[in-house]
Amino acid sequence: MKKNILLGVCGGVAAYKSAELVRLLQREGFEVRVMMTAAAARFVGPLTFQALSGHPVATNLLDADQESAMGHIRLARWPDQILIAPATAHFMARIAHGLADDILSAVCLAARVPIRLAPAMNTAMWLNPATQSNRQVLESRGIRLLGPGQGELACGESGEGRMLDPDEIIDRLRETFQTGPLQGQSALVTAGPTREPLDPVRFISNRSSGKMGYALAEALRSAGASVTLVSGPVALPAPPGVELIRVETALQMRDAVMARISQAPPGLFVACAAVADYRPEHAASGKIKKTDANMTLSLTRNPDILTEVAALPPGSRPFCVGFAAETEDIRRLGEEKRRCKGVDLLAANLVGGPQGGFEDNNNALTLLWADGQAELPMMPKRELAAALVSFIEERFFACNPSS
Ligand code: C5P
Repeated sequence: MKKNILLGVCGGVAAYKSAELVRLLQREGFEVRVMMTAAAARFVGPLTFQALSGHPVATNLLDADQESAMGHIRLARWPDQILIAPATAHFMARIAHGLADDILSAVCLAARVPIRLAPAMNTAMWLNPATQSNRQVLESRGIRLLGPGQGELACGESGEGRMLDPDEIIDRLRETFQTGPLQGQSALVTAGPTREPLDPVRFISNRSSGKMGYALAEALRSAGASVTLVSGPVALPAPPGVELIRVETALQMRDAVMARISQAPPGLFVACAAVADYRPEHAASGKIKKTDANMTLSLTRNPDILTEVAALPPGSRPFCVGFAAETEDIRRLGEEKRRCKGVDLLAANLVGGPQGGFEDNNNALTLLWADGQAELPMMPKRELAAALVSFIEERFFACNPSS
């Protein structure tokens, strides 16, 4: 099956390499269309890209002829993925801020497919904190950067900022354009702890590191799913190619999850977060002062996100995977939790012992579903995540044979 790729070319001297990129993408089996910024069209003529791609080149957002041939919204719906090469510092800043003042930025804002950028700029521009903070924003939204590489730059300097060569870009794309068993499926994952504020400087939380949830998000992505990760505060970088939504409290996590499900119900929901069961009834607006007396905190129940998602009506209810961290009798307590929360697959693990659990890099899981169970022995969390995703796939397709 032919895959559609939309190549966006920004105005950098590396634009000349993009002509070669069109050829290499076609050789990979892609149908290629090209869009260019006005500055890019001053480096390489649109006619070159039209001749190579066999399609008219989109250069202008407000041109009546171009919009009537294929408007920016139709153009945004056409590809299976978008590649911007070269991506300039200015372009990165524009899309980091959600601007839509030219064809490239408008299409990126309207698109719902993976976007990759191959940055190309002078080393100082790349290392500038403004560009680095834009990079972080883009990566946290699941936009993946390919490069830049090190080497000689057109400005005469040498350093980081060179656009990757076309064949290097193709190699990176091969890694990112996954074709896995979950291709075409979307997965929503929660991870990490939540923080429940007592006052502006104090909170109640737990020891969850987020490692398992992040590893699962990555493993689901590698299996071909498009993944959104709703994460409490952790010290982990966004997994590549995954859309990351950061939250702090259980209520924020619930709202982020329900908002995403009502926008576009995912096929899979994996609740890996260690959500605080209770929050302080009142968070003080100023720092609580100590007195000589003892203090009693009044706590109120937080919503159970997993139970709420698992109770959604068919049509918006995803296949639900839950976790249970127990200090004893994991099979019995896990089974109770599976039934009580109404989940399709429950992964139970032992915590509080010498090995495994929250902060450890290793873990073991007991998997429970309606008519079966299995054990995944102690192993590094990344390997465990891959093994669990294989299980999730199996159970998901058993429950959704038409997917
Ligand atoms: O009840 P318990 O906290 O042990 O359940 C654990 C499972 O439920 C995990 O999958 C966790 O992510 C999910 N959970 C939730 N919302 C809560 C509490 C737990 O989604 N408020």
